[in-house]
Amino acid sequence: MKLQNKVAIVTGAASGMGKAIAELYAKQGAKVVVSDLNLEGAQAVASTIKGSGGEAFAIQTNVASEEDLIHLFNETQSVFGGLDILVNNAGIMDGMEPVGEVTDQRWNLIFAVNTTSVMHTMRLATDLFLKQGHGVIVNNISAGGLYGARAGAAYTASKHAVVGLTKNTAFMYANKNIRCNGIAPGAVATNISSSMGKVSEYGASRQQLGLAINPGIGQPEEIAKLALFLGSDDSNFINGQIVTIDGGWTAY
Ligand SMILES: NC(=O)c1ccc[n+]([C@@H]2O[C@H](COP(=O)([O-])OP(=O)(O)OC[C@H]3O[C@@H](n4cnc5c(N)ncnc54)[C@H](O)[C@@H]3O)[C@@H](O)[C@H]2O)c1
Repeated sequence: MKLQNKVAIVTGAASGMGKAIAELYAKQGAKVVVSDLNLEGAQAVASTIKGSGGEAFAIQTNVASEEDLIHLFNETQSVFGGLDILVNNAGIMDGMEPVGEVTDQRWNLIFAVNTTSVMHTMRLATDLFLKQGHGVIVNNISAGGLYGARAGAAYTASKHAVVGLTKNTAFMYANKNIRCNGIAPGAVATNISSSMGKVSEYGASRQQLGLAINPGIGQPEEIAKLALFLGSDDSNFINGQIVTIDGGWTAY
């Protein structure tokens, strides 16, 4: 058991990679807070975990609402008595728009969910982690946070910002026993395309040029294994890194 008695929050845990991370963390002994905008989905994941003998509770959280995030942290502490690992996983796609087609509405929503929320949870978590003298943050970012056109302008910029936030946080608290790393998945089989809305024909045609060299689509469970490594003491000396997991897509 890699996470025995650890308390972990996983955001966006009702589906895809968040669900796989929540389930694997619980299997490895963690008490998991299954947080998602989709309460029904989160409850289903929490009951699967409890059904297999794990510990979890579901909570509805819109990560774009600071009030919801404060509630999430308060509930975590009152139910499980603390927090050891924060996994920022909730995220949404854009419609592949190049900058000339981005609406303010799309930009603001993508940044609220993919970027500002991560700053807010990390601010809440580091407050706790500094007091208790330890803590681990794992940010599920994207290969889109490292390269130019894995998505549209808004998603790409939102994820690049989280790369900077991850590295800055890692260094700032490196001597405080707080680690912060990121995951940069390539294409993974999840429900994220349901968040795309209207798709830019031009943007998608540009983005698809790179898909031609993608060796394959990953499974959420494969990403969860990396999230387990980065969340556990096995990665004690890894801090401020963005680990790409994409079957070799970005190796070209
Ligand atoms: N699927 C991919 O190919 C891929 C690749 C690289 C990175 N990512 C990133 O992985 C993360 C997980 O996405 P996924 O692919 O598993 O998608 P998914 O759609 O299967 O899961 C995302 C979850 O986030 C939740 N969510 C959406 N908006 C939310 C909000 N405002 N507050 C709380 N929860 C919210 C959804 O309800 C859903 O349960 C995202 O950050 C995404 O950007 C995905």
